[in-house]
Amino acid sequence: MCGIVGAVADREVGPILIAGLQALEYRGYDSAGLAVLQGSALERRRTQGKVRELEQLLAAEPAPARIGIAHTRWATHGVPSTRNAHPHVSSDLVSVVHNGIIENHEALRRELQDAGYAFSSETDTEVIAHLVDALQREGLDLVQAVVRATQRLHGAYAIAVLSAREPDRVVGARRGSPLVVGVGLGEHFLGSDVQALLRVTNRFIYLDEGDVVEIRRDGYRIFDADGRPAARDVRETDLTADAVERGEYRHYMLKEIHEQPEAVARTLEGRINGTRILPNVFGVAAETLLGRVRQVHIVACGTSYHAGLVARYWIEALAGLPCSVEVASEYRYRDVVVPADTLFVAVSQSGETADTLAALRAGKAGARYLAALAVCNVPESSLVRESDLVLMTRAGPEIGVASTKAFTTQLAALGLLSLELARLNGIDTARYERLVGELSALPRLVAEALQLEPQIAILAERFVDKQHALFLGRGASYPIAVEAALKLKEISYIHAEAYPAGELKHGPLALVDEHMPVLAVAPNNQLLEKLKSNLEEVRARGGELFVIADQAVDVKLDADRGAVLRLNVGDSLVAPAVFNIPLQLLAYHVAVLKGTDVDQPRNLAKSVTVE
Ligand code: G6P
Repeated sequence: MCGIVGAVADREVGPILIAGLQALEYRGYDSAGLAVLQGSALERRRTQGKVRELEQLLAAEPAPARIGIAHTRWATHGVPSTRNAHPHVSSDLVSVVHNGIIENHEALRRELQDAGYAFSSETDTEVIAHLVDALQREGLDLVQAVVRATQRLHGAYAIAVLSAREPDRVVGARRGSPLVVGVGLGEHFLGSDVQALLRVTNRFIYLDEGDVVEIRRDGYRIFDADGRPAARDVRETDLTADAVERGEYRHYMLKEIHEQPEAVARTLEGRINGTRILPNVFGVAAETLLGRVRQVHIVACGTSYHAGLVARYWIEALAGLPCSVEVASEYRYRDVVVPADTLFVAVSQSGETADTLAALRAGKAGARYLAALAVCNVPESSLVRESDLVLMTRAGPEIGVASTKAFTTQLAALGLLSLELARLNGIDTARYERLVGELSALPRLVAEALQLEPQIAILAERFVDKQHALFLGRGASYPIAVEAALKLKEISYIHAEAYPAGELKHGPLALVDEHMPVLAVAPNNQLLEKLKSNLEEVRARGGELFVIADQAVDVKLDADRGAVLRLNVGDSLVAPAVFNIPLQLLAYHVAVLKGTDVDQPRNLAKSVTVE
């Protein structure tokens, strides 16, 4: 999604703005631009394509300055093009970058056209530039103009505004899309994400909904949505720019796949004591609250939704509580029945996904839930701040658009939740202790599963020329098949579907022939014999069959008709999380062989902050 960087300093800001945009590249974008003030002259550079092209343009046509704003755009209104790239400008005086969507932009556009403004782009953003200009012409200063302009906007926005009328400041504002202030010594910054600014500061202010901020070299002022002065805390982050470096790895995705043993270990650390989950894991108020839970509603998007699907199997089987899982974009627009004592669980890596946040707000409205729990990877995110209970995954920054370590740590966190609910609902103690032990073994099992990489790299060659692929699983491994199909689609652009293996003969079997590889996940559990009959159905139709199977599972395939890869996980609670590892590697190696942009797949964004 779009990225914003702004800077006011006593040194040249061009390199700061470019480095900030580069740190945000992982979020996905299609064009980039910046605007600076040289004295009171506004200079703008924009390109379609990558930030390095903007950097080259700036080298060819330098614009040295000490104040500026910059943007990476992910097209929503208007095609990706230089003309639609931000910043947008009004009267050669006001310049704006924007993340989000302005829903009433058409009405505002007509009103501004009637007032004599000519539009030069198809974007919703351009109305903001003209609105601010019009308000400044009425005599308002930049802060007041931005307060009044944002009061007229419906929808979501994070913006940064420059005005040649007040050339020593950048004004920012946010509602529905994140924006932070970076506090430096004699210099201040704006960013849509702290990662944009880690090279220049580790001190941040997380703005509240509706806030407007003015940054100058020597200070900043914050106002609430009504324009009243507001105080917000400055916080120090432990994140460093190095934590988001790619190191020796060819892609962030590969690095993040290999970081999983450590990331899962961090997520479990200090939360399990031998054979017990520690009581304070979900916060002080949690034990009483969780003890009252009679149902669970899990809401999420994308890969996080798939983690929720696995958790449903665990919660129903271990705690005996009804559990539903729904994608946030559906949940938020339907009349959901909320029985008494239901726990709302939002799962999100970023904590800024627009639909998940809206679902949380819809869930909280009317106080129908017992409590809302966020399972999230970003401590300062809106989701965490707005939830009653929080369980942080500790995956560390995830840069690859296709989620890997965030998913595995979500499974670890949801494993903790499932077992805690199981304990509070009277699970047999010996079984509970055995399951806690199985969860604790996850980092080691993930490390072992990573050893399959050389075999997976060979297997990938059998997928690279295919147009389609089918993934099968049963029980808690079915969501793993769904996640595997998503990974392959996202980064290799091969059409992939996942089915519960038992559904095969109700339709997808019609697709199976020598052109359709079928990959099945086969842990050693009570569903194994059923799964094996499903695999026979595939073999009998001449399909190429690949099986990721537990060591103890007896499947044999002719080498020219398929392959079996082995894991040693037994019937462990965490088997789904372990079987997922080779499937992540498969998607990765297929994408590398196809030569796609692994970390920034076409059309996709890391964090979808618009609806
Ligand atoms: C985007 C990303 C996915 C992610 C989903 C939900 O689609 O590309 O990788 O799973 O958003 O994101 P969240 O931050 O809420 O987990």
